[in-house]
Amino acid sequence: LHALRGMTLSFNDDPGTSDQPHDGTVEFQKDGLIIIQEGRILHSGPASLLLETLPEGTPIDHWPDQLIMPGFIDPHLHYSQLDITASYGRQLLDWLNTYTFPEESRFSERAYADEIANAFLEQLLANGVTTALAFCTTHPASVEALFTAASDRNMRMLGGKVMMDRNAPEALCDTPETGIRDSRRLIEKWHDHGRLEYAITPRFAPTSTPEQLAATGRLLSDYPGMVMQTHLSENRQEVDWVASLFPEARDYLDVYSQYHLVRPRAIFAHGIHIDDDVRQRLADDGGAIAFCPSSNLFLGSGLFDWRSAREQEVRVGIASDIGAGTSFSPFQTLQDAYKVGQLSHQPLTPWQAFYAYTLGNARVLDIDHHIGSLDAGKEADITVINPRATPMLARKDRHDPTLMEQLFNLMILGDERCISATYIMGRKIYDAQNS
Ligand code: GUN
Ligand code: FE
Repeated sequence: LHALRGMTLSFNDDPGTSDQPHDGTVEFQKDGLIIIQEGRILHSGPASLLLETLPEGTPIDHWPDQLIMPGFIDPHLHYSQLDITASYGRQLLDWLNTYTFPEESRFSERAYADEIANAFLEQLLANGVTTALAFCTTHPASVEALFTAASDRNMRMLGGKVMMDRNAPEALCDTPETGIRDSRRLIEKWHDHGRLEYAITPRFAPTSTPEQLAATGRLLSDYPGMVMQTHLSENRQEVDWVASLFPEARDYLDVYSQYHLVRPRAIFAHGIHIDDDVRQRLADDGGAIAFCPSSNLFLGSGLFDWRSAREQEVRVGIASDIGAGTSFSPFQTLQDAYKVGQLSHQPLTPWQAFYAYTLGNARVLDIDHHIGSLDAGKEADITVINPRATPMLARKDRHDPTLMEQLFNLMILGDERCISATYIMGRKIYDAQNS
């Protein structure tokens, strides 16, 4: 038994779109206590009430004036692209050919995959991110590396081997048969192993033959509860290419629908160039979009229509999309989400932003029974945030900000310097003081 004490903040539900969050959606304690037993939250609430229930001598990590939140969740990124972040000058299809595919080719070597997987997880933790849904590469070794590194840290991690069998360098292509065989082997070895979940991962429509997509649909029907991750309508050239590769499909989403890939726990990154009809089908079929604002700006892909997605009740998460995204920091990603929203006169409120990166993303991945809030019973994946960690934030702090202002300052001015500590299953695994 041990405890964390500080300003605790978590969400019970979607706070809505107005500056005043819906009643009961925000759970905030100026002096809060989180009691942890065997890696899970036993109680959380006001310290004044809970302290007296603690047995004498229970260790307490006290973080006065720091914000203690559920660990952040990143529902779309590519761990293999760690070292190609900030690659200059190209848009999606050229960027893939020039930077991405050559880098991903290196993951045939297990030692290289191990090195990147460990460095990647250290970046997540230093940014307060405790769970992610990650693309690996075509190579089974890339999945072994990620899951081994995540399991060493006891992190809740979702990922899968990329399937692609055309329009990529030979060395990165599998076949419909080997793609499925390797995926099955990895599923048997790793799926539901501790806190790990396998995710079935066809890269995107242009790099799979109809045969591979059909085989993917059959694989998914053998594992109906499993996450499926891919990309959708990110870039105009890509959308045109898909139309020419799949002339019989009504649109890009319909390619995936034809192979039974649009369903609950299907996560489609981007979804920028889509219309009301596509949004309606996504909402009806339970598929979710991972909105990746920093990636969309970096690659010049376009502006995601957050307002329409919300109005049509599409499930939407917010993600970094490293290495087309430019930062591991949820604060930086939320800053870009805010700016994209401003361009369509629907900026994200700070409440929505922090809800999205915690409970919202947990719901999108359907793992909110495990993580995403500070409720009793949840796994104690927790991040401790210093709201005055930088000179500019310290200046803002002198003006006695409200909680909403403090959150907004963090998402506009914050970065990894604001993460004081990260806990996995109650154990402090990252501490800014020792790094
Ligand atoms: N579409 C297909 N593959 C990728 C990728 O690796 N990154 C991004 N941003 N889009 C993709
Ligand atoms: Fe991506």
